[in-house]
Amino acid sequence: MTDLPTADLLLNPELIADPYPLYRRLQTEAPVWNVPGAEVAVVTSFPLVMEATARVEDFSNNMEALIYRDEQDLPMRLDFGGEGVQTLATADRPLHTLHRKIVFPELVARQMNALEGDITELATDCVARAVEAGAVEFMATVANVIPITIVERLIGFHDSDPQRLLAAAFDSTALLGGTLSLSDLEGLVLRTIAIEEWIGEQLDATSEPYDANILGAVKRGMDDGDLGRHEATVILHTLLSAGGESTTSLIGNAVRVLAERPELQAQLRADPSLLPNFVEEALRMESPFRYLMRSVPKQTRLGDTDIPAGTTVLLFWGAANRDPQEYDNADEVDLGRRTSRQHLAFGRGIHYCVGAPLARLEARIVLAELLQQTTEIRLNPDQPPRWVDSLQVRRHAELPLLLS
Ligand code: HEM
Repeated sequence: MTDLPTADLLLNPELIADPYPLYRRLQTEAPVWNVPGAEVAVVTSFPLVMEATARVEDFSNNMEALIYRDEQDLPMRLDFGGEGVQTLATADRPLHTLHRKIVFPELVARQMNALEGDITELATDCVARAVEAGAVEFMATVANVIPITIVERLIGFHDSDPQRLLAAAFDSTALLGGTLSLSDLEGLVLRTIAIEEWIGEQLDATSEPYDANILGAVKRGMDDGDLGRHEATVILHTLLSAGGESTTSLIGNAVRVLAERPELQAQLRADPSLLPNFVEEALRMESPFRYLMRSVPKQTRLGDTDIPAGTTVLLFWGAANRDPQEYDNADEVDLGRRTSRQHLAFGRGIHYCVGAPLARLEARIVLAELLQQTTEIRLNPDQPPRWVDSLQVRRHAELPLLLS
């Protein structure tokens, strides 16, 4: 094929801001695209992303490399040389089964339900402040505040500083974002070491009787000999990042979709029972994680394409979720979509997101508050929204709104 996309397209800032035309092109021309010269493969079609999540032997979650932007603006791999840490999200069976069992399911489910009152209180307060201001940067005032505060309570960290934890959560996804230079990436790795030292101290300060929270459950796993101290630390770090960053993205993305579509606001105000469907459509249309990585231990084939051993594979949930093979009017919000919860924004298979119920709950509560406390949500025409510069994360760095 002569007209396959070229590697530089992947990190092109305009395509990072609006990646959907590139995704569509890849779905048509190369649904599994071995990025030339990069040992990276990109998967964009719904059925093939689904297939890869099920073939866990061929597509391992063991993270072997990070991606950075080289001097020619091409995506390159920074290989860990076999030193990757296998914990929870980056573990394969049987370790993955053990990690998931230690932290979940009932503890997390129980704690999440108990947090509903806290979420409502926080959302009411943050949204009221935003509405009172009228012209507001929504991320700083609302979306960045709620998920990190809630996940901090869910984990049960002692004496923590939410701003520092939010910065750490943003750092974790920046590490995976694929757009940093090698030296910026190395700086970030040092900050990651510092936050993991702090998390390790939190574990050291926790002992029997364990609190009924995730910190207590993980420390029990350590004391029972099921988890090493480093594994325990990385599991908590993963939960902090996953819980603190991605729901922030979802809330901002959903509000952006609303701000651009007054008719949707009217529909949801008239019938709030449509809100859960809207949250699913926001997850599908603007998936907070555009992709997550897999590694390929031995040469394999996906669709019609061979993938060499050692390749880093990017499973693009954000592209699959707009695949016209799977969805009618894939680029439109449809509150009546029958398969609304079957998108891939929370992944699929054994690594399916453990925080999905919490993310949905937080988004529903914030959106309900916002719709209730306003008659109009608009983008601020003087300050356009700005996306975070990341190949992986779909989050607003700034979302200036006019609320009335
Ligand atoms: C809108 C918000 C969220 C999105 C879009 C999201 C997305 C995802 C995705 C796509 C995966 C699959 C990973 C894979 O297949 O490699 C995942 C896994 C995971 N998520 Fe979430 N997530 C969200 C919220 C949360 C929250 C609130 C928490 C914690 C409280 C959380 C914790 C996790 C963990 C621990 C895993 C790894 C599970 C495993 O490997 O078994 N996530 N998430």
